[in-house]
Amino acid sequence: MTTEETESTETTDEFNEGKQSHDLFHFRRVAPYVKRQIVFITGASSGIGRAAAIAFARAGCDVCGMARRAERLESLRDEIIALPSPHGEFLAVVGDVRDSEAVEAAVEQTLARFGRLDVLVANAGIGQHGAVAEADWRHIETVLRTNIDGVLHSVRACVPAMRISGGGHILIVSSIVAGVHTPYTATYAASKAFVSSLAGSLRLELEDDNIAVTDVLVGRTHSEFNQHRLGSSAEVRGGLPTMSAEEAAAAIARAAGHKPRRVILRYFDRLVLAGGVIAPGIMARLAKRQYEPSIGD
Ligand SMILES: NC(=O)c1ccc[n+]([C@@H]2O[C@H](COP(=O)([O-])OP(=O)(O)OC[C@H]3O[C@@H](n4cnc5c(N)ncnc54)[C@H](OP(=O)(O)O)[C@@H]3O)[C@@H](O)[C@H]2O)c1
Repeated sequence: MTTEETESTETTDEFNEGKQSHDLFHFRRVAPYVKRQIVFITGASSGIGRAAAIAFARAGCDVCGMARRAERLESLRDEIIALPSPHGEFLAVVGDVRDSEAVEAAVEQTLARFGRLDVLVANAGIGQHGAVAEADWRHIETVLRTNIDGVLHSVRACVPAMRISGGGHILIVSSIVAGVHTPYTATYAASKAFVSSLAGSLRLELEDDNIAVTDVLVGRTHSEFNQHRLGSSAEVRGGLPTMSAEEAAAAIARAAGHKPRRVILRYFDRLVLAGGVIAPGIMARLAKRQYEPSIGD
């Protein structure tokens, strides 16, 4: 298998020894791979995107982070400035990924500040919970416009800049639900299936431009994702292994070094995806149990 075809499996145990050793360990693991690159991250104000901005900056990369919440981006910038030197710089751009012109303007600001663009982490996303037939159309539309249009706008804004830089790397943050039929969060899962499919096609469309594309299949992660999930206010059921946003971000930053076709972070997630291929009906029933609203919700 060539490096380009390699799939990565990230394990989590190595990160569980306390924040300080995690930071040092993480820095040693990430820094040799990513070198000094210019990275554009959508959805940098919380969760995985925020942790990825810190991981890249810690590794010496200059980062532009885009999101709608200005105060969150400001606090991220303060945290990056306070990182032990040497570290990369952070440019905050407030904007909505549903707006193609806003994304283009953010890329222009990145070029104006840092001179080129090497890496896109198309991460901004939002969930939705509830039955397709009954869901508020505005919620469905928000999921589609954010998770699908947002990724398309980001790719279309970044590719010309990467071509000028002589190449680049696009990491599309998808989900393991892209590979499993997922009743009651079907619109979200379908939006992730869309972007995973897009990643596979883009990888070939852009290979002659020396732009690699990685489909990052994230499993359940601690973040603000559940708080922001649209639709039924009921929590989805627990019981599934959950990783930290820092673990997901570290895997993303390492992938920026070796540009795999696909990143699956944990063996559990690999099992879920294999189940979706081998026994899709059983996996869909298990997913239904996770997401089906209880009576009274
Ligand atoms: N958490 C999980 O279990 C999980 C599992 C699989 C995949 N994922 C994926 O991982 C990605 C990151 O999610 P997360 O877990 O880190 O959740 P999160 O903490 O809620 O972060 C979502 C980020 O997306 C940004 N965002 C949302 N809508 C936006 C818009 N219209 N324009 C610009 N930015 C927008 C948010 O910023 P603002 O609100 O400030 O705009 C925030 O920074 C998402 O694509 C999600 O689908 C998450």
